[in-house]
Parts: sequence; C-alpha cells; structure tokens
Amino acid sequence: MKIAVYPGSFDPITNGHLDIIIRASKLVDKLIVAVVENPTKQPLFTLEERLCMMTEALKCVKNAKTDSFKGLLVNFLKKNKANVIVKGLRAVSDFEFEYQMALMNRQLDKDIETVFLMTSAKYAFLSSSSVREISALGGNVSEFVPKRVEKRLKVKYASMDNLKIKQKIEVD
Ligand code: PNS
Repeated sequence: MKIAVYPGSFDPITNGHLDIIIRASKLVDKLIVAVVENPTKQPLFTLEERLCMMTEALKCVKNAKTDSFKGLLVNFLKKNKANVIVKGLRAVSDFEFEYQMALMNRQLDKDIETVFLMTSAKYAFLSSSSVREISALGGNVSEFVPKRVEKRLKVKYASMDNLKIKQKIEVD
C-alpha cells in the first residue's frame, strides 16, 4: 500500500492546498495531510482549529485523512509506514527552499522520496499568508478558501483588535 504525507502549517487551508491534495490522492492508496504543531511559530489558528478545517475540507477526498505532528517529519512518516512526502510547487521561487528540505529529509531517511506536484495555474499566486492579510483587511477571500474557512476567518478577525491583527498578519 502506497502511503504519502502532505505536510504543512495550513494556517488556514486554501483552495491551492486542496488542489494539491486532490491531485496527490489520485496517485497513492492513502494520503495523510499532516498539520504541523510548531512551537516556534504563532499561527492565527490553533492546531485544533486547523485540524478541524482540514477534516471538513477532506470530506470529499475518500482516501485522505488528517493528523498532526511535531518534531521531525521523517519520524512521522516512519510511524505511519509512509515513504513519500508530497509538496506543492507554485513558482520557481518555492523551489530552492523545497529542494533543500527534500535533500535534507533524504539525508535523514534514505527510503523517503519527496514528490513535487504543480498547483493549478489559477492558484499559483495563492498563499495562506495572503489570505490572512486580505481577510484581516476586510477583503473578499471566497475564491481562495473553502466556505467554512472563509467564515472562520471572519469570526477570528472580528474578535481581534487592530494591533493584534497587525501582529498576526506578520506571522507566517
Ligand atoms: O506550510 P509550511 O509552514 O511551509 O510547512 C513546513 C513544514 C511543516 C513542511 C516543515 O516545517 C517541516 O517539515 N517541519 C518538520 C520539521 C522537520 O522535519 N525538519 C527537518 C526537515 S529540513
């Protein structure tokens, strides 16, 4: 059984992430979308909120499930008997960093392969940070994220004052 892991912060999940998830799910038997718990980052959404949004978004993808991890990604793969890491590429600018991480992960575990999937051209400009910024400034993100994520963004920013919003936009 071919098991792959698609890791990320997903703060929040965008339609660009979903596009990669759907593409990846067609290539493997099981896809685990792994939401990172990174103690050094201050995300907009808590781990529980990010997992909840991901679970909602994955309802239409039969062979995908979500989970969280902390620590080394390669250890999470080993624990789940997975040997493929899926990453999405939007533009050449993503490549250098992703290439470095792929080689580092291979160094850490020689049996793990990283597979890069090209996102749909219509999402090539899309990132969680731009979605957060647009939403914080009162813009419309309905084209960029699932409906429930759009609602959660509105609720989140409605409950914050301007200073907190500025700080949250700057965190990626
Ligand atoms: O969505 P992001 O923030 O770009 O995701 C980054 C992520 C989670 C894929 C990356 O930070 C990661 O793999 N973290 C786990 C720590 C790890 O294994 N580091 C060594 C690889 S260089």
